[in-house]
Amino acid sequence: MKVEYYVFSGTGNTLTIAKEVGRRLEENGNEVNLHMIGKFNSFRMSGESVLGLAFPIAFFSSYPLVLRFIASLPEGKGRYIFMTATMGGSALGAEGKFRRLVRQKGYKPMGSELFVMPGNYNNGVIPVEKNQELISAALEKARSFADKLSEGKASWNRGIPLIPSMWYKLVSSGRSLRFFYRMFPIMVDNDKCMKCNRCLENCPVGAINKKGEYPFINKNLCESCQRCVAFCPAHAIVVPGKPAEQYRAVEFEEFQI
Ligand SMILES: Cc1cc2nc3c(=O)[nH]c(=O)nc-3n(C[C@H](O)[C@H](O)[C@H](O)COP(=O)(O)O)c2cc1C
Repeated sequence: MKVEYYVFSGTGNTLTIAKEVGRRLEENGNEVNLHMIGKFNSFRMSGESVLGLAFPIAFFSSYPLVLRFIASLPEGKGRYIFMTATMGGSALGAEGKFRRLVRQKGYKPMGSELFVMPGNYNNGVIPVEKNQELISAALEKARSFADKLSEGKASWNRGIPLIPSMWYKLVSSGRSLRFFYRMFPIMVDNDKCMKCNRCLENCPVGAINKKGEYPFINKNLCESCQRCVAFCPAHAIVVPGKPAEQYRAVEFEEFQI
């Protein structure tokens, strides 16, 4: 197989899993090209290539930018597709909804897998050992999923019909996000900010601009993916009232593929 694998990752969990799935697929003799889903997307799908999707579960669905990406995929015309998603604990059957979405676009679902990874949100103190165990188990599952894909033995859970559609609607209408952001806004602590611009340059939806010398987050655009919080070298981007340890699964440099 030649796989064009499209990845969105806020804090690195999904990227870690996608890289492992990709590595194993290559060990099994396949060719894999990773692409980051971001502000600007272009599709590279030639001939018989298979499409891979990797994204985090958010609000029992995924971030609006991921939903927009899936909606903007070109017609599948029978092309095979697989999905890998990471989560903190539960997707409530979201993979069934994604299966229906890609089928409606004319893709042939090959398989999907969900991976429980460390929570990337609201970690008072990061439980390092527990996280290590979760990551090891998820990496093992990633290799096994890649083997199943290579052998044509993977499957894609059909889920349950109603609940995932409801969450999908809530996320695509922006309602889940607005509610979440009102409860847990993201703010810049100007006293700590080093004005390095990393947050501005790496926000996947262009929600961070400058107000005077300092970054300013546009609450109407932010999708709460936590990338700015995770990778701020000065720990200056925070959720007020929730002093949390900064979580990221990879270092910033690794994040650039
Ligand atoms: C705003 C937000 C919403 C989330 N919603 C869910 C959810 O509905 N179910 C779940 O199991 N995990 C949820 N999570 C946890 C993430 O899915 C999980 O930590 C994921 O691995 C993060 O991937 P990333 O590091 O690639 O961004 C949520 C995280 C955030 C920040």
